[in-house]
Amino acid sequence: MNDHSSFPRGKLTNAQLFERAQKVIPGGVNSPVRAFRAVGGTPRFIARAEGPFIIDAEGKRYIDYIGSWGPMILGHGHPAVLEAVQKAALDGFSFGAPTEREVELAEEILKLVPSMEQLRLVSSGTEAAMSALRLARGATGRHKIVKFEGCYHGHADALLVKAGSGLATFGNPTSAGVPPEVVQHTLVLEYNNPEQLDEVFALHGADIACVVIEPIAGNMNFVRAAVPFMKQLRELCTRHGAMLMFDEVMTGFRVALGSAQSLYARAIPGFEPDISVFGKVIGGGMPLAAFGAKRAVMQQLAPLGPVYQAGTLSGNPVATACGLATLREIQRPGFFDALGERTRALVDGLVAVARETGVPLAGDCEGGMFGFFFADSLPQNYGAVMATDRERFNRFFHGMLDAGVYFAPAMYEAGFVSAAHTEREIADTVAAAAKTFASL
Ligand SMILES: Cc1ncc(COP(=O)(O)O)c(C=O)c1O
Repeated sequence: MNDHSSFPRGKLTNAQLFERAQKVIPGGVNSPVRAFRAVGGTPRFIARAEGPFIIDAEGKRYIDYIGSWGPMILGHGHPAVLEAVQKAALDGFSFGAPTEREVELAEEILKLVPSMEQLRLVSSGTEAAMSALRLARGATGRHKIVKFEGCYHGHADALLVKAGSGLATFGNPTSAGVPPEVVQHTLVLEYNNPEQLDEVFALHGADIACVVIEPIAGNMNFVRAAVPFMKQLRELCTRHGAMLMFDEVMTGFRVALGSAQSLYARAIPGFEPDISVFGKVIGGGMPLAAFGAKRAVMQQLAPLGPVYQAGTLSGNPVATACGLATLREIQRPGFFDALGERTRALVDGLVAVARETGVPLAGDCEGGMFGFFFADSLPQNYGAVMATDRERFNRFFHGMLDAGVYFAPAMYEAGFVSAAHTEREIADTVAAAAKTFASL
């Protein structure tokens, strides 16, 4: 698993690259979690990837459970996707004019997600969530929005908010550079807390434009919104004329072919969100995201309606080719059954070997997304996630990294299994975990 023999002499090590990077890029990274701040140590600089593996600048190979933070559901370098991207690139990188392929991708997504009748393509999850928020406000004529502690919806100003001192007060920015006035309309609740939901609607119901939620929260590792909680949320939104926004940037086409909303629709008859946000898998590793809703809502967008939204690279022809090829592959019969079984085998395997060594570990998964916690039971909200054993996680992370297994470098991030992971990689991972748990 750990082959250093191909280390190319004369090239820079991870540590040297990190030093060089820090001179020209803040923190040496283009997105903070890549810097390993939560776990300490030197980030691995990735030179290339193949199937379920990533290979760093020193030639060390790792089983990859990050998958570019979700998009690589087929693993790296899937032949059908590579071919589609290469073909598209030959035809041109970007035109700034409509193409047939973006229509095809929109049709493909809409076919799989019946709650949406139209969508618009953008380039990142942040952009999709920010645009969907503007649309919800524009369509309802209301200003207030509700989000949940521990859910991340990209870094639009209005969504970088943590809870204030109470529900009657508004949240505080989680980032410098966000004026308090910009978040004065954002209310932050505890995830899975039914009383707070009732209270916020009792206090502000007539002013709430939308409630945005990660249905399975992957930005606090892996926490499911309980079905009764989701049912209550849906009912309150309907009763008060607020829109329910599902942020499926992570869960979309990852936890099920119909995304997380299809799981809630199975449990709650007639369930649908009003607006949905997608990213990651729909681009297959290229910058692509989308937001969509019923036609009447989407027609509030420019050029038809008063809500402005635009993008130079939106619906990019190479990115749409990559996304389309990915979406076609995941529709093959049995794809999600096989992916789900493999992911379940990983989580069950980790929990079993942890128990054998007396380490408390709880895990959960859905489709190709999973989480595990150094705790006796699964946390239900952000506070409980942050109360799990961080020190143990960090030691486990580094032990596994040394053994050639790359989990997310923070205890509050979800993990991802791809279709390229075979029983062999799962077995190797569980075997490495058994040794690492024993050394904790
Ligand atoms: C649920 C969710 N929403 C939105 C985003 C933002 O997406 P992006 O990083 O593409 O801007 C993320 C990113 O991880 C996410 O997990």
